[in-house]
Amino acid sequence: MIRVDLSHMRHFIPLPYEAALTPRLHLAHERLRSGTGAGGEFTGWVSLPRTYDREEFGRIKAAAKKIRGDSQALVVIGIGGSYLGARGVIECLCSPNYNLKKKDTPNIYFVGNGLDNDQLAEVMELLEGHDFSVNVISKSGTTTEPAVAFRFFRQLLEQKYGREEAARRIYATTDRNKGALKALAAAEGYESFVVPDDIGGRYSVLTAVGLLPIAVAGIDIEQLMAGAAAMEADCAREGMDANPAWQYAGARYELQHRGMEIEVLACYDPFFRFMAEWWKQLYGESEGKEGKGLFPASVEFTADLHSMGQYLQEGRRNLFETVVRFEPRAGELAVPFDAENGDGLNFLAGKTMSDLKQQAMDGTLLAHVEGGVPNIRVCCGARSAFTLGELIYFFCYACGLSGYLLDVNPFDQPGVEAYKKNMFALLGKPGYEDLGQSLRARLAE
Ligand code: PA5
Repeated sequence: MIRVDLSHMRHFIPLPYEAALTPRLHLAHERLRSGTGAGGEFTGWVSLPRTYDREEFGRIKAAAKKIRGDSQALVVIGIGGSYLGARGVIECLCSPNYNLKKKDTPNIYFVGNGLDNDQLAEVMELLEGHDFSVNVISKSGTTTEPAVAFRFFRQLLEQKYGREEAARRIYATTDRNKGALKALAAAEGYESFVVPDDIGGRYSVLTAVGLLPIAVAGIDIEQLMAGAAAMEADCAREGMDANPAWQYAGARYELQHRGMEIEVLACYDPFFRFMAEWWKQLYGESEGKEGKGLFPASVEFTADLHSMGQYLQEGRRNLFETVVRFEPRAGELAVPFDAENGDGLNFLAGKTMSDLKQQAMDGTLLAHVEGGVPNIRVCCGARSAFTLGELIYFFCYACGLSGYLLDVNPFDQPGVEAYKKNMFALLGKPGYEDLGQSLRARLAE
């Protein structure tokens, strides 16, 4: 169950805004559910928690089991929507130190999400002497960063195991029919999983894109889907009072309308860091177009209260905070009693870390609100696969609504092509010769 608490945001808005916004939310909701809005052909994720392909889901679980049995490491190759969700869920539920922990599941390395030599070389070195498999993920099958990384790791596998066994250790998640990766997978006989046609990259974490790496980490993907299904039912409801995604999308739209330019997503759980990276992509790529959209930023509290806290408290008043709060988990550490009390901390003895965190959260909330920062709270259950399933669906649904409120297509990303075109031209890709020449001349100016 996710609850959106707007009590510390409302008094920044002079008049009630909900009634005026409700008809627009109705329309956005209706377009999202019927696939009749802009980019409606990419709304397959809306019903996914109910309609997902059970046969493929079974194959994902079987592949994860095989990888857990024959590999000490899994290399996940993908960028943007083809990796952030999986990394977010794994770090949030297992730990950012997952690879360092004692466990009976493989280490997981994420590569192909940039063009850095050292990152690539480091992972190759870490794999030395270890059995490993590769999950290459690309909906288009042609994205440069993962395609280049895949060359390296495919060669590494083939050198280690020979071509046939290497093929048994490569899992390709891509389009059903098209793209270079699909063709390669078919030719080499890699086990393949599908990114459905009607689901774009940043909305695809609950498809094989996210589910295979997440399952390899030992996370219960049934629970993840069950959480998403529960939230799907909540998000299907109509009305401000009934639907948490309407509340969140409505509040952030209203704040934007009143001059806020930046939404800062904050969480007090450092394990949440990559979920925030996933959220930034989701909202940044979905809303940031046609000169519109909030700039999505993120902070990790309480650590960033000692860095960004100053700006949040007293900097430009063009931002608001959305705080994701998880309930505490059972069995937490309590601050020890110290007979000498040299540090003067015995007033905390016996309190759990969550007790401390709770007071830090409440104290920060009041301070920031007093400093002029509207606050939206997204209150979730304890960190679990079910809760993350709920949260992922909630943010996706609210993002779709937000795009329609802004009157943009929340499912395309035309702006991403600009850098790609220039990069191809500068690298000498056939067909880009003229552009390459003019770019080189500009760089030489
Ligand atoms: O949300 C998106 O569509 C993008 O972020 C893509 O996921 C990203 O560009 C990777 O694309 P692909 O999966 O085609 O390699």
